[in-house]
Amino acid sequence: MALLVVAAAIFAAGFLYNKVDDRRDLRAHAAATVDGDPSRGEAMFIDYGCGSCHRLSHVRKASGMVGPTLDGIAERAIVAGKLNNSPENLQRWIRDPQAVTPGTAMPDLNVGARDARDISAFLYTRTG
Ligand code: HEC
Repeated sequence: MALLVVAAAIFAAGFLYNKVDDRRDLRAHAAATVDGDPSRGEAMFIDYGCGSCHRLSHVRKASGMVGPTLDGIAERAIVAGKLNNSPENLQRWIRDPQAVTPGTAMPDLNVGARDARDISAFLYTRTG
C-alpha cells in the first residue's frame, strides 16, 4: 500500500513537471515565432485594457464579453474573421483593426510595434 502511494506521488510529480516544462517550451516557442517577450506582453495586455473586451483565462480582469474570447487563440486558423493567423497578421490586427475591418467594434488603441510584438508572443502561449 505504501509503495502504491509512493508510486502515485512519483507519477503525479512527473506529470506536474511535464506540465511546467510544456508551458516553458510554449513560451520559448512563442517568443521565437514572434521575436517578442511573452512576459512583457502579458503586462502590456493588461495595461492596454484588452481584457475589458476579451476573456482570457488566468489574466487578471480579462473577463470582457465585447469581443471573442482569446482562449486558444494560438490554435485558431483565422483571426478577426478574415486574416490567416500568422504573427504578422496578428500584430497588424492589434495595431490597426480599423484598417483591416473599417467600423469593427475593436478600437485602434495606438499599440506600438514592440508592444504588439510582445502581446502577440504572449497570445501565442495560449493554446486553450
Ligand atoms: C472595445 C473593445 C475591445 C478592446 C479594448 C480590444 N478588443 Fe480585440 N476585439 C474586439 C472585437 C469586437 C473583436 C472582433 C472583431 C471582428 O472580428 O471584427 C476583437 C477581435 C480581436 C482579435 C481577433 C480574435 C479572433 O478570435 O478572431 C484579437 C487577437 C484581439 N481582438 C486582440 C486584442 C488585443 C491584444 C487588445 C488590446 C491591445 C484588444 N483586442 C482590445 C474588441 C476589443
